[in-house]
Amino acid sequence: MAKAIGVFDSGIGGLTVASAIKRQFPNRKIIYFGDTVHLPYGDKSAGQIQKYIKAISAFLFAQNCDQLVVACNSASSVLNEVKSNLPPFKRILNVIDPVVDSIVNQTDIRRIGIIGTKRTIDSNVYSDRLLSQNDQLEVFQLSTPLLAPMIEEGFVHDKIAASVIHEYLSEMPEVDALVLGCTHYPLIRKEIDAFYKGAVKLFEAPDLIVESMGGRSEDSVSEEPNTGDDHFYVSDYTTSFEQTAQQFFGAKIKLEKSNLFD
Ligand code: DGL
Repeated sequence: MAKAIGVFDSGIGGLTVASAIKRQFPNRKIIYFGDTVHLPYGDKSAGQIQKYIKAISAFLFAQNCDQLVVACNSASSVLNEVKSNLPPFKRILNVIDPVVDSIVNQTDIRRIGIIGTKRTIDSNVYSDRLLSQNDQLEVFQLSTPLLAPMIEEGFVHDKIAASVIHEYLSEMPEVDALVLGCTHYPLIRKEIDAFYKGAVKLFEAPDLIVESMGGRSEDSVSEEPNTGDDHFYVSDYTTSFEQTAQQFFGAKIKLEKSNLFD
């Protein structure tokens, strides 16, 4: 039987990625870890986040996962330095490369904005990877640290969200495209699109990472079915996590508090 796909984030953001994977590969079991006790990752140092990555990936590997999806930009931005110390997954995917690869192939995009957590923006990961593939691009980065905790608290389709989004995006120079450089942001995509009145192309990881997981290649996730139920772990129970997981995966989810960080 095929092994499971391990997915993790600091909280609910990675559920946007996990649900996209599930839509595309309904027969594969997903084991998700939401590190809610350490949320937000975006304010933490690289070293601290790397410790979380090591602990969570060892946990997911022990749960019989053969692939690891780092469904968090903040963690993806500091992943390379620890990759060789992680368990021997068949594949380790980050959420940044699929977005970068998709942008550099589009000739109508010159000015590109990136929004993300402080960790992601301070790492310059998007701008470095974009410019290394196309030095004609102009990249404008803006950290938007209130957005992930705001979304995690359930402020998404309301005035508070609209006003915080307005406040931040007013600081962004005029751009052709905007990267939603945090996996929480697809949950406020509509509001961001409304701010730009649909005139700016938005890029986000969930569907792009699924595309990069491939069709029927040697290590395609679609090859072998796995009939087990998806399993969701959190390092601290939150109602917001349970509700969002239910929205994405249906009412009866298997949610468990893990003692990994107790
Ligand atoms: N969803 C995460 C990201 O993509 C983390 C947000 C946070 O915990 O600060 O960066």
